[in-house]
Amino acid sequence: MTDDLSELRAETEAALAAAADPRALDAVRVSVLGRNGRLTALLRDLGKTPPEQRRERGAALNALRDTLSAAIETRRAGLEAAELDARLAAERLDPSLPPRPVPAGLIHPISRTMEEMAAIFGAMGFAIAEGPDVETDWHNFSALNIPAHHPARDDQDTFYLTASDAGGAPPPVLRTHTSPVQIRTMLERPLPLRVIVPGRTYRADHDATHSPMFHQCEGLVIDRDITLGHLKGCLIDFLRAFFAVPDLPVRFRASYFPFTEPSMEVDIGWDRKSGELGKGGDWLEILGSGMVHPRVLANVGIDPREWQGFAFGMGVERVTMLKHGIPDLRPFYDSDIRWLRHYGFNPLAPAVLHEGV
Ligand code: PHE
Repeated sequence: MTDDLSELRAETEAALAAAADPRALDAVRVSVLGRNGRLTALLRDLGKTPPEQRRERGAALNALRDTLSAAIETRRAGLEAAELDARLAAERLDPSLPPRPVPAGLIHPISRTMEEMAAIFGAMGFAIAEGPDVETDWHNFSALNIPAHHPARDDQDTFYLTASDAGGAPPPVLRTHTSPVQIRTMLERPLPLRVIVPGRTYRADHDATHSPMFHQCEGLVIDRDITLGHLKGCLIDFLRAFFAVPDLPVRFRASYFPFTEPSMEVDIGWDRKSGELGKGGDWLEILGSGMVHPRVLANVGIDPREWQGFAFGMGVERVTMLKHGIPDLRPFYDSDIRWLRHYGFNPLAPAVLHEGV
C-alpha cells in the first residue's frame, strides 16, 4: 500500500475511534466514502494513473474501501449497542412504584342526592320514571286538575314556547314540576305502580334561593288499597333514611294542591339557629304530598272507585343544601371547580342503602 493510502487508513481509523455516537460516525463515513469523500476522490482519479500502475493501484483502493467500510460497520454496531445499554440502564422499570394518581371527576351533589333517593325508594319497590322537559299544557296543568286561569298557575309561572299552530292548542311549556310524569306514567304503565321521577323543572324565578331551572323528585303509588297511612309511613321512612336521623320528627300539615285530596305539606324538625336536623323546636317544610285526586285518575281513564294512590314532590336542591349544610343555591350551577371539589362525591363510593346514605 502506498503512503497516501496508509495515511488515509490510519487517519480514518483514528477518526472512527474518536466518533462518540452514530452521528459523528456518519460524518466520518461521509468524509471518506461519501460523494466528495477522500477515498471516492482517489477512485475517481484512478483514470489519471499511468496505465502500468493502474491495476495495482485499483486493487489497493478497492481493498482499502472494503477495509474501511467494514471498520465503519463494526464501529456502528459497537456504538449502537452502547447506546442501547445506556438507555436500558436509564429507563429501568421499577414495578414496585405506586401508579401515578389519575385525576378523577366527582359526583355533583344534585346527582348524589338523586342516587340516594333512588337507593332508598328502590328498596321500597319504586321504579324510576322520566318525562320530557318540554311539556304540553295538558300534561303540566290541565290533566292535573289545574284548568286554564286557575290561580295555581300563577304560583308556577314558567317559560312558554312558541305555539306551533297559533289558533288552537296552548303553547308547550317548560315543565314547572315533575308531576306531569304522574300523568304519563299512569297512561303508559300497567297498574299497580310505584315510581319516583327525578328530573329538571323550570319556573320564572331568579334570586338567592330560586333558580329558573331546578330539580324535583316526584313520587307516585297507585294500587287498590292505598291509604294516607301508606303515604305517611313511606315518607317518614324516606326522610329518616335520607337525612340519617333515625328519630327525625316529621309533621304532616293540611295544605292544598289541585291534583291531590287531601293534600299535606311535610315538615321536619330542626334548629333554625344551628341548622341541626332533628333537634330544636323549629319546623322546616320539605315536600308536598297527598292522595291522588279522583279527577286526576279519571283524566287518565283510571276508575277512582277501584284504584287509589298517593303522590309527593320535593325540591332536590333544597334537601341537598339541608343535608350537607350548603348555604347558597347559586353555586350549584356555576361549574366552579373549587366548589365542586369541596362538595363533590367520590364516584367509586356510590349510594348504597345497607351502608346508610
Ligand atoms: N308538584 C308540586 C309542586 O311542585 C308538589 C307535589 C307533588 C304536591 C305531588 C303533591 C303531590 O309544588
